[in-house]
Amino acid sequence: MLKKLPFLVVLVLYGCSSQQKPAKSPYQTFYDTHLFFDLEKEVERVPCSVRGEIPSWVSGTLLRNGPAKFQVGDKRVGWFDGLAMLHAFEFSPEQVFYTNRFLRSEQYYIMMEEKSLNFSGFAQDPCPKVFKDQTSRFIPKEMQNIQNADVTIQEYADKMVALTESPLPVIFDAKTLDTLGNFQFQDRLPHGQWEAAHSLRDVSAGETISYCIQFGEKSSYIIWKMADHQSTREIIAEIPVEFPAYMHSFALTEHYVVLVEFPFVVNPLDLMLKKKPFIFNYKWMPKNGTNFYIVSRQTGEVSKIKGDPFFAFHHVNAFDKDGKIFIDIVTHPNANIIDVITGRIVDKNGIKESEKTKLERFTISMPNQTLSREVLFDQTTEMPRVPADRVAHEYRYSYLIDAAFPTSIKDIRPLYKVDAVTKTGKNWSEEGCLPGEPIFVPNPNGQAEDDGVVLSLVLDFANHRSFLLILDAKDLSELARAETPHAIPVGLHGLWNSKESTNK
Ligand code: CO
Repeated sequence: MLKKLPFLVVLVLYGCSSQQKPAKSPYQTFYDTHLFFDLEKEVERVPCSVRGEIPSWVSGTLLRNGPAKFQVGDKRVGWFDGLAMLHAFEFSPEQVFYTNRFLRSEQYYIMMEEKSLNFSGFAQDPCPKVFKDQTSRFIPKEMQNIQNADVTIQEYADKMVALTESPLPVIFDAKTLDTLGNFQFQDRLPHGQWEAAHSLRDVSAGETISYCIQFGEKSSYIIWKMADHQSTREIIAEIPVEFPAYMHSFALTEHYVVLVEFPFVVNPLDLMLKKKPFIFNYKWMPKNGTNFYIVSRQTGEVSKIKGDPFFAFHHVNAFDKDGKIFIDIVTHPNANIIDVITGRIVDKNGIKESEKTKLERFTISMPNQTLSREVLFDQTTEMPRVPADRVAHEYRYSYLIDAAFPTSIKDIRPLYKVDAVTKTGKNWSEEGCLPGEPIFVPNPNGQAEDDGVVLSLVLDFANHRSFLLILDAKDLSELARAETPHAIPVGLHGLWNSKESTNK
């Protein structure tokens, strides 16, 4: 019988499908050349040319993560399986210095030195070498078991770590961006086999919370917390589940963790038997509805409420107030977006339909546990962020970008500021430019929630160049832009680091 599957078994087993390569979408060539192109050059502390004026109080480093190499010869991996590259934008008075480094993962050495795509990933097929238990001779010993953590950046135990959905955070030097090794948790929590890419830090509670999934005959979601400066996790709750869902993020409030379990689920046996890349084992089961698991941060008590089926990658924020829990999510009507980003939906209409999202608020009234749903903003948005000190607390403003990938150099893809109270938005845009995830940096002397700047790494896909955009968070007017020495492909998430930090 299938018991708890050891971590490595699952990694070995998701893959090696013999499926046919799907047809290419009509936009694929544009995506490959204009959005998801290879960037191999690494530079160190290059001064950016700055146009405009950066407020003198902006002091710290913007760290960003995202895939930056996709191709070996004429073969490509999908967007999520490109090689992780870290970027740092260091602000010193009136200047911005730029550094970029690939994460030195196993996949890095296989791709860059072995010139192979023979590794496992989100939608990537590793056969057949993994089954022979051979490690590529190109991977230095000290870099073995370091995964391609290309999604987010967090601070664990005063160290900067890169994260993906496999459960081993990778430590890197916040200044040089050198890869320093896997982060070791000092606890006896079972190794989950899948993690939320987005752990959440509650600044006022001084702790980070996340969840992992253990797959097996008896699978479970394990929700954990870890105090700032510590590397010991504690379990808040363990929730048994028959068919675990794919959940890229979750909701956190002052008193609750809410796992929003979309009906995009996997039979753990399929991970073992069907031998497909990981994500292709998941199925859309709308009849299941969406389950909201409400977990007390204090007691670990769990209750459940069911809603209509929908899917999401990203929670915007959540908070509880006066006996109600408010959960704001960028919703997709179904999980077809997974098939778009992994190249299984290729028709124009299907792509456009899947990219439509809404920013919605789900309200749970606690005594009798009723659930209601309303649209806060109906433009197509993604990659939401709120100020770091508002995570898990009442907030008003979120910053997002247009969710639809451009398909021509004339396209306009705005960056938005959404006001959750008035349900209105402001935006910044420029033809031929695709902003990245917006990150708010507070003015240390400011009082208002939106007193600060918004930083966004913009890809000028029409001209194959990039710049860091610095906007006034109040009205999204442009204050300055810092031009990078090379074009940077579309990335994922980042973190504002206000400290001098070296990880050494
Ligand atoms: Co994400």
